[in-house]
Amino acid sequence: MSYDRLPMHRRSSSASKYRFNLNARHRAITFLKFFIPAAVLLILYGVFIYEPHVEIAFYERGWVYREIEPIKPLAGCFHPERVSAKYNVSEALYGPKYTDPQAGVRLRFGMDCYDLAGTIRSPPKSPSRPTLPPDERTQFHTYWRIDLAEFGPRQEYMLKSFFATQDLRQTRLVLWSNGDLAEGNRILQTYLKTYPNAFAVRKLSIPELAKGTILEGHSLLTSKDKKAWLDGDLIRLLLLWNYGGVWIDMDSLLTRDLEPLLEHEFVTQWDCYDKKYSALNGALMRFRQHSPYLCEAFNIMLNDTPPREDSTDWGSILYLKLWRRLVAASIPPFKILPFCFSDGRSCRLDNRLPDPFVSDDSKGKWTMGLGIEEGGALDMTLHEKVFSVHLHNQWEKEFPRNGWVERLLIKGYDKKVMSHREAEIS
Ligand SMILES: *[C@@H]1O[C@H](CO)[C@@H](O)[C@H](O)[C@H]1NC(C)=O
Repeated sequence: MSYDRLPMHRRSSSASKYRFNLNARHRAITFLKFFIPAAVLLILYGVFIYEPHVEIAFYERGWVYREIEPIKPLAGCFHPERVSAKYNVSEALYGPKYTDPQAGVRLRFGMDCYDLAGTIRSPPKSPSRPTLPPDERTQFHTYWRIDLAEFGPRQEYMLKSFFATQDLRQTRLVLWSNGDLAEGNRILQTYLKTYPNAFAVRKLSIPELAKGTILEGHSLLTSKDKKAWLDGDLIRLLLLWNYGGVWIDMDSLLTRDLEPLLEHEFVTQWDCYDKKYSALNGALMRFRQHSPYLCEAFNIMLNDTPPREDSTDWGSILYLKLWRRLVAASIPPFKILPFCFSDGRSCRLDNRLPDPFVSDDSKGKWTMGLGIEEGGALDMTLHEKVFSVHLHNQWEKEFPRNGWVERLLIKGYDKKVMSHREAEIS
């Protein structure tokens, strides 16, 4: 009898298990019925409110293993007997500095980066600066290729920004080109006339600039690609080697006097995300004449794997290799300006500068309720904190009428440049 009951019991047990399973399945289906539409709605709502920015990059592991990980030795450019007489190591590398642009943390919160930029100031009561002969000034170098586009009003804004913000007794802007840019160009002729000591337009020859460096006569010098990246990467290092000073990309607008930064040699941070292999950028950089940092950079160019086309191998990757080799050799490295100093566009929605090519926000706000009016938070950030705004090419776009770039930057530039022209006439 007991044998009879056993299967019964079993049957009933499996039946209740089945009922239980049915219940669980039912509940799971009911849950999914609500959960999936709710999730879809939430995602749609999220995309409606926020722009999603997702960037996926693929790096070949072999390349990382070969090019990034090994720290090769320096080439010896810092050996006292090899340092140029024009470069003073004890002053440049070990001399006292008044401010420090290096944060030590990632500046992830709110306006921290901008506030740090605001700490970079000249000493109070710094002596009034004398007017220097043109060749002894800090040279600002920029480059415009004659074969890319005509030098027109949109390019002129960069010149205006220089003459409106920098110390014209102590600096000179040299606009380099691969041809005769100034000839027959009325815009440039006007500036040459107004600023005979603070402006020059010159044609460059890469082989000529490479003379006296280990790159002299090398076939690498003729490497070119369509985006003019490698070309541009090489030119900036060669110009700074020959003349020292500051390199600034043409697609920038200067907003404040760079003088308090000039005690350092530096490149900049690419953006606020610190991407592993492209953390550094050369859109704004400063090195002294015959800087051993640059001598080491030329050695990396010559002795490492030749650059790939359309790559940042002679830009970001090169600066990274150099930085790592320097610290490995116990040599104080060049500085890396935090992203917002020159490129406040390259960060999150909540802490980057407004888009220069989009009309002002209808509520008249920037981020976190900060104002964009004259004398407001954005105005202060531009003129008292950051040093430059990088426009990332976009040459085909115009600044919107009465937008923040026009109101807070261009108007001021025009006023200053006009006053210079009037002073010249009188
Ligand atoms: C290099 O700089 C240091 C510190 O500013 C100074 O004492 C020294 O005289 C300089 N040397 C040369 C050769 O100018």
